[in-house]
Amino acid sequence: MVDFTLTDEQKALREMAHDFAEKEIRPVAWEYDRDGTWPEEILRKAWELGLMNGHTPEEYGGPGLTYLEGAIVEEELSWGCSGIATSIGANGLATAPLGVAGSEELKRKYLGMLTEEYKLASFCLTEPDAGSDVSGMRTTAVRKGDKYVINGSKCFITNGGYADWYTVYAKTDKEAGHRGISCFVVPRDDTVTVDKKEDKMGQRASNTATITFNETEIPADHLIGEENKGFKIAMMTLDRTRPGVAAMATGIARAAFEFATEYSKERVQFGVPIAMHQAIQFMIADMATKVHISRLATWNSAVLLDQGRRNTIESSHAKRFAADAAMEVATDAVQVYGGYGFIKDYPVEKLMRDAKIMQLYEGTSQIQRLVIARETLLPRRIEEPATV
Ligand code: CAA
Repeated sequence: MVDFTLTDEQKALREMAHDFAEKEIRPVAWEYDRDGTWPEEILRKAWELGLMNGHTPEEYGGPGLTYLEGAIVEEELSWGCSGIATSIGANGLATAPLGVAGSEELKRKYLGMLTEEYKLASFCLTEPDAGSDVSGMRTTAVRKGDKYVINGSKCFITNGGYADWYTVYAKTDKEAGHRGISCFVVPRDDTVTVDKKEDKMGQRASNTATITFNETEIPADHLIGEENKGFKIAMMTLDRTRPGVAAMATGIARAAFEFATEYSKERVQFGVPIAMHQAIQFMIADMATKVHISRLATWNSAVLLDQGRRNTIESSHAKRFAADAAMEVATDAVQVYGGYGFIKDYPVEKLMRDAKIMQLYEGTSQIQRLVIARETLLPRRIEEPATV
C-alpha cells in the first residue's frame, strides 16, 4: 500500500518540532549565524523534549522514532535553522554505526550515556586526504593486547569540540584498501585534541572541528562489529542518515519558498505586487514543486528503512535531489527579493549559504550521482536488509 498519510501521533510530533523551531530556534537563528554562536541552551532544550537522539530505541532510553518520523522532525528543525538542526541531529549520525553493528554492551553503555543526560557524540570519518574517497584515510588503529591504539586526524567533525565520545574509522590493515578499515567507539580523554573550529560560509551556529587522536588507547571491545568491516558500516550508516540530510534540505527549501512567497505578495513594482507578474509566479511554482518532490523522495527513502529494506539508491536520489533543490530554491528566493535578497537585513541570503552544505556533507551531490549510476548500471546483489 502506498500511503503517506500521517497518523495523529506523527502529526503531533511534527507540530511539536515545528513549535520548537518557531519559538526556540527562529528567534535567534540569524543572530547566531552572524556571530557563530554555539546553541548550547537550544540543544539542552531539544534534549529535554526528546528531539535529540530520536532514533535511539526505547530500550536504551530513546524515543525510538521511525526513520519517517525522524525525517519529519528534521525538516521542521531545519526550517527553523539548519545549522542548529545539524547540531541537534549529530548524535544520530554518531550513533548510527552502533545501530548497524554495535554489540549489546556498547549500545547499552554509549547510547544510554546520551539518553541519561545531555551529552554529545560525533561521527569521525573524513580526513584531510579522505573526503569522498573514504578508503584513502590514514588514521590507524593498532591492536596491542586487550587494547587498540589510535593515531590520526579527522576533519569537518560536527559537534567535535563538544563531544564526549566519537565513532572513529581507522585503518587496521593499511594494505587492504576499503577492506582494511574498522570502526570504533572512542571516549574523549586527554589524548584527544580539538585542533580547529572552522569559520564556515553557512550553518555558522554548528560546531565543525578537527579532532586528533594521539596514541589514544581504547579497550579492544570498543570495536564496532568485526575488524576490517568498517567501510561497509560507514556505507550502511550513510544509507540511514542521508534521508535525514534530505529532510533538512527540504526544510531549508521550504523556508526559502515561504519567505519568497510572502515577499512577492508585499513588494510592489510596476504598480502591482510582484506576485502578479508571471516571471515571479513561475519561480514560485518551481519552488513549490521542488519542495514537494524533495519531501516525497525523502519520505520514500525513509519508509524503505522502516520496512527493513535496503534504500541505497533511494537515499542517494533523495539526498541528491533535495540538496540541489534547496540550493536552487534558496538562490531563487534571493532573486525574488532582488537587491534586498543580497543584504543581510533580509532572511534569504543566510538560507542560500546554508543550502550549499547540503550538496557537500554526507556525500557530495556528485557522490550521490556516482552511487545512483553504479546502482543503475551495475546493481550489487546485497541481501535485504543489508548486513555487515
Ligand atoms: N551498503 C552496503 N555495502 C556497501 C554499500 C552500501 N550502501 N556501498 C558500498 N558497499 C560495499 C560494496 O559492496 C563493496 O563491498 P566488497 O568489499 O564486498 O566488494 C565495498 O563496500 C566497497 O564499495 P565501492 O567499491 O563502491 O567503494 P568505493 O571506494 O568506490 O566508494 C563511495 C564508494 C560511494 C564513493 C563511498 O566512498 C562514499 O560514499 N563516499 C562519500 C563519503 C561520504 O559521504 N562522506 C561524508 C562524511 S560524513 C559527514 O559529512 C558528516 C558531517 O558531520 C560533516
